[in-house]
This record gives sequence, C-alpha cells and structure tokens, in this order.
Amino acid sequence: MSILELQHVEKIYGEKENQVHALRDVSLQVEEGEFAAIVGTSGSGKSTLLNLIGGLDNPTKGKVLVKSREIGSLSRKELTIFRRRNIGFVFQNYSLMPVLNVYDNVALPVTFDRGKHRNHKYIEELLRELGIWEKRKKYPNELSGGQQQRVAIARALVNKPHVLLCDEPTGNLDSATTIEVMGLLKASCRKYKQTILMVTHNEAIAQTCDRVIHIEDGRIVTGNRRFPAKGGDDVC
Ligand SMILES: Nc1ncnc2c1ncn2[C@@H]1O[C@H](COP(=O)(O)OP(=O)(O)OP(=O)(O)O)[C@@H](O)[C@H]1O
Ligand SMILES: [Mg+2]
Repeated sequence: MSILELQHVEKIYGEKENQVHALRDVSLQVEEGEFAAIVGTSGSGKSTLLNLIGGLDNPTKGKVLVKSREIGSLSRKELTIFRRRNIGFVFQNYSLMPVLNVYDNVALPVTFDRGKHRNHKYIEELLRELGIWEKRKKYPNELSGGQQQRVAIARALVNKPHVLLCDEPTGNLDSATTIEVMGLLKASCRKYKQTILMVTHNEAIAQTCDRVIHIEDGRIVTGNRRFPAKGGDDVC
C-alpha cells in the first residue's frame, strides 16, 4: 500500500479575481522507501504540494492520505501529534532556533512531544553521522550554511519520521556540500526505510533520485519511477 496518496487534489489560494490555482487535479502515489524529487519552474506548485502532504495547509478539493489516514479528517490536535510522529520537514532556510544550541535545536521536536523522553543515544548517533557532534554546543549563528542545514536535517530525523519532506534543502549550499547532504539523505532513506519527497531546482540532483515528479502550472506532467514499486508499477 502507498504511504502517501493524493486523490484529485486541487488548491486555490485567494478569492474571486485574486484566485490562484496552485494545484489542479493532482493524483499521486508514493510507495514506502521511495526517494522522489519534485521539479518544476518557480510558482508551479511544488511547495504547495509539500505543504498539503505535510498537513501545513488544506486542499480546496480532493484528499491527502498519509499512512492511509486522511489528513483533512484529523482535528488540529490529532494533526499536530500525527505530524510530529510521522513527518519531518527540512526547509531551505534551515529555520533553526537562534537561542538554542545545536543539541537543543535537534532535541526540540522530542521536547514538544509530551510523554516522550529524549533519547540521548540516538541524538548522539544522528549528530555523529551528520558530522556535527563536535558542534553540539554551538549556536546556529556560529555555523556555516552546510552545518546549519545538517542540524536542520538531524532535527527533522530525530523522531524517526516515516516521511521526510524537504523543500530545496540544498538551495543555499555549494556543490560539494550539496553532494554531501544528498548522500546523508539517501543513507537515512535506506537505513530507516524512509520515504523522502524533495523539491529541487537542480535537474542533475533530481536525476540521482529514484523518481522525478515534474510539476507544471499546478499539474503533474511526469512522475516515472526508476524501479518497479512494490505495490505495482503505476506512474503517478
Ligand atoms: N499563501 C499563498 N497565498 C496566495 N498565493 C499563493 C500562496 N502560496 C503560494 N501561492 C501561489 O501559488 C502558486 C504556487 O506557489 P508555490 O509556492 O507552490 O510554488 P513553487 O513551485 O514552490 O515555487 P518556487 O520554486 O518559487 O518556490 C504561485 O502562483 C504562488 O504565487
Ligand atoms: Mg517553493
């Protein structure tokens, strides 16, 4: 069964003459363990798609299912908990808390989850794997862009999410750091059997993923898989 499914999703922002049709009749299935790139020109609807899958916004029409749960049917509280436990986000601008050091930034999502204890061993493992263990007591403004992005990735992974949504995670990085970050994401995808959706402007990077989903003007135009998925070999 698909871990992510969109059924005839439409997203319209604004009202009347200010309406923007950001997504039009988008249907998509993503299988567990897939690493899919989402590419398309600026304004084509890539971030909108990720935001709907992550439950940060609601579709105007259609359904978004994550692990067979319809996101739109959850209450605000249920959604917050579901998201925290199942979905990790990595954004282009890192969105780290400036007043917290590296360790506390990474542990933050666990801190929010009442009843869950900080798993120091796992946090240490993550920080070591990402090469930022030595930086654990530093603050974000004391780190390079690549290091900050690795902290953001560690934070997104700390709850072992089944789904990782990345919006231009390498957009601000030089090419060497981009290759490194891509390697870390792929390793995490394989090791923890995660499903990753990654928006990128970089076609060469997209081509290294299992699947490339092209969006144009709010529609998916191609979404071929490179390998047959377990549940069938449908396109999109
Ligand atoms: N909150 C919003 N209110 C109104 N319009 C919006 C909003 N967010 C996005 N849009 C519009 O929806 C369309 C799709 O935007 P989206 O951010 O999904 O594009 P994108 O593919 O991520 O672009 P980029 O590559 O520049 O990040 C655009 O026309 C944008 O102007
Ligand atoms: Mg965007």
